[in-house]
This record gives sequence, C-alpha cells and structure tokens, in this order.
Amino acid sequence: MQTADLPFYHNPVMLAECLDGLNIKPDGVYGDCTLGGGGHSYAIANKLNENGTLHAFDRDQDAVAFATKRLAGVKCKFIVHPVRFGELKNEIAPNTLDGILYDLGISSHQVDESERGFTFVGNNPLDLRMDRREGISAQEWLRTVDAEELAAVLRKNADMDRAFKLATRIVEMVSAVSAEGRKIVPSDLKAVVESVFPDKRREVNGLLARVFQAIRMEVNGELKEIEDSMRAAVDCLKVGGRLVVMSYHSVEDRCVKETAAEFEKACICPEHMPVCTCGGNHQRLKKVNRKPILPTDEEIANNSRARSAKLRVYERI
Ligand SMILES: C[S@@+](CC[C@H](N)C(=O)[O-])C[C@H]1O[C@@H](n2cnc3c(N)ncnc32)[C@H](O)[C@@H]1O
Repeated sequence: MQTADLPFYHNPVMLAECLDGLNIKPDGVYGDCTLGGGGHSYAIANKLNENGTLHAFDRDQDAVAFATKRLAGVKCKFIVHPVRFGELKNEIAPNTLDGILYDLGISSHQVDESERGFTFVGNNPLDLRMDRREGISAQEWLRTVDAEELAAVLRKNADMDRAFKLATRIVEMVSAVSAEGRKIVPSDLKAVVESVFPDKRREVNGLLARVFQAIRMEVNGELKEIEDSMRAAVDCLKVGGRLVVMSYHSVEDRCVKETAAEFEKACICPEHMPVCTCGGNHQRLKKVNRKPILPTDEEIANNSRARSAKLRVYERI
C-alpha cells in the first residue's frame, strides 16, 4: 500500500543515520526488532533487492497490522515475527544477519491512542502494556506492589528523586482508589506527584512522564528484553554485521552501553585475577563511532520525539 494512503502512525527518528549504521547490502539479511509503524523497516526494505530479507519484530499487534500493510509489495522477502524481541534467539539462526536495528521505547501511535492507557493526557485508566495479550496491566501491577518495591522500580527505571516518599504516596493512592471501586487514572498519579514535589510545580509533567516511564518499563520488562535480545543479536550477526541501537533516555542508554560492553572486552577473567587465563580473545563487538550519534537541530525542530535520541552502532568482529 502507498504510505501516503495510510494514517499517521509514527515518524521515524534518525532514519538516514540508522540506514548508514546498518551499512545495507542489497542482497543481505536484516532484522528490525522494533517494527512500529514500519518507518525504518520500509526504508530498509527499499534498499534490498529480491534476494534480500528483512525480519521484523513487534510485540504490539496494532504495529504488526499497520506495518504489514505498509510493507506489502516490497521487493525483498519480508518476514514478520509478532513476538517480543527478547525471543530473538528462538526466531533467528546464529550467524545469519548482516545487520539488526533497535529503535527502543514506544511509538507515537501507542501514546496517541488514549484508550491504550499509555498517556498521561486525558483520563483513561492506566494500562501501559505494549502487548495487551500478555502480562498484567499497570493497574493490576500497582495493586500488587509495596512501597519498597515501587521505590526500587522508580529509581532503577527512571532515576527518580524522593522515590520512597513518592512510592509510599502512590501505594496510599492505589488503596484509596481501590476502596472507591474505580480504576487508577492519570490525574490520580498527577495529584501524588504534585504533593511530593510542591517545590517543582513547573516540572510536574516531566516528573509525571518519568513515573509513567518507570511503571511502563516494569510492566513490559523492558530492560531485561534489551539485555536478552542484544546478547542474542551478537550470536545472530555474521562477522562484519552491524548492531544499531537507538535509545531515548539515560536508563535505556546505560543498559545498551553496558550490555554491548560485555562483548567489547577481549579478556573475560574475573577482576581479581592477577593474570589473564581466558586467552584474551573474547571480543565480539567493536564500536563503529566513538561517541553516540545525535539528531541534528533540524530534525529536533521537525520531530520533538527525536530530542533525546542517542544512536549507538557496533560491528560484530
Ligand atoms: C519507537 S517504536 C518503533 C518505530 C519504528 N522504528 C518506526 O519507524 O515506525 C518502538 C516499537 O517497538 C515495539 N517494542 C518495544 N519493545 C519491544 C519488545 N521488547 N519486543 C517487541 N517489540 C517491542 C513497540 O511496541 C513499538 O511499536
């Protein structure tokens, strides 16, 4: 289907930079782990010929349905895997990919469709699952956690200040809302954030966004997904293949950097070992760019979602 005939879904970030990072060969085999609206996939597919293959993953069935329509008619072989990218090792054989892309986080569509319960604008009950067929919603999860557990999640997934106070007030709010027999809506969380940060009135939306981010990442197991999948990607890539990962906030970026770093070391001996006994030949990834690639000012002006993006490119060695 012509892209122009489809409704807006998502504006791909750093498209040219991602294609560059993947270093696409027309008859190569590529993976897009975050299909979304198919913006990156469509551009990758258009660089491939009939001997090329694109494997695309998304756990969100809206994304799979939309992007499948968008990519109908591309020349290359297009294979959709409607599962978590943490399943990569069960879906793709070792040493078969020339490049793999991760455009992490959520799509504009997921935020814009208010009934999906991702947005803190409006008053739809919180859900925050990318795949509504599995796991538990943010509603249900919040009803099971205590303040200690919630505080740990707020720190780990969003580097939140005043995490314990915030968590304690959220737990109190959740039990009050349950007693009223209704669902948790964004204004409930906003009232808690305002009460914990009375000195940061101007930053309330930013703080609320981070609370949403922390809960969303927990409900979807996002950090574990990134770690599991990137480790599997190293096995799936051919020597010379590219691993291209775009993150949107510091917690995600740290996870990407630290997971890749496991494969950038030649020596994997425990730190306390005085001499290397592992052979010192374990390096499997090298950085293509010393520093992460950032969007241009022009792209940020045209697409505010690009603002916080960081792109890291590695080569399998
Ligand atoms: C930022 S959007 C990708 C947008 C896409 N690159 C485009 O140009 O339209 C991220 C997508 O990845 C999906 N996603 C995030 N984590 C996932 C995971 N662990 N497994 C599969 N899909 C995931 C989300 O459902 C979302 O559709």
